[in-house]
Amino acid sequence: MGFPLDYETPREWVALVEREPERLLEDHAHCELKAASSAHALIAKNPERTELVRDLADIAIEELEHFKIVVSELESRGGRLGEQSENLYAATLHRRSASTRESLVLDRLVIAHLIEARSLERFHLLAEHATDGRLRELFAELLPSEAAHQGFYAKAARSLFGRGAAEARIAQLRQLEGEIMASLPFDHTVHSGLVGAPELAPVER
Ligand SMILES: [Fe+2]
Ligand SMILES: [Fe+2]
Repeated sequence: MGFPLDYETPREWVALVEREPERLLEDHAHCELKAASSAHALIAKNPERTELVRDLADIAIEELEHFKIVVSELESRGGRLGEQSENLYAATLHRRSASTRESLVLDRLVIAHLIEARSLERFHLLAEHATDGRLRELFAELLPSEAAHQGFYAKAARSLFGRGAAEARIAQLRQLEGEIMASLPFDHTVHSGLVGAPELAPVER
């Protein structure tokens, strides 16, 4: 599968999360909620950009729908949504992006694009390789709109800041995303890293 990231997650990750699917689902429900919050925050920072605001509002609604779908699957398995824990992956991306006041909106769009791309990569793995049929169906159902979000954020960055500036920042932050992946443990969450993964091969470019 071609995807715009520096490291590809090995499919053994699916077997790892399938040992404790409730942990994956609880973490992921919070991720969907955070994705809605990120869209809200971008609206608040860009109230004058009418078209962007409308598209982001649609995304926020979709992310909340995803949140409900994931929580309902969690509850049907006897799990319950607990307190939100820090998403080290996203927090580190934001912290280490070294955004300036001027680059903040571009950076938020690019980071949202990368986070959606990583989520999408993991959703593909689950939709194709999970042995649990309900997990396969759930992530196959979420996949198309996350693919659209990934494309939307990159397109918005290009149209608001120009192709050259957007592509340059995407390349820089993609490299940072790879460094973060290579520093976080291979674990049960959609945004876990690759330390301890059975194979860690950079994607051929
Ligand atoms: Fe989502
Ligand atoms: Fe999304």
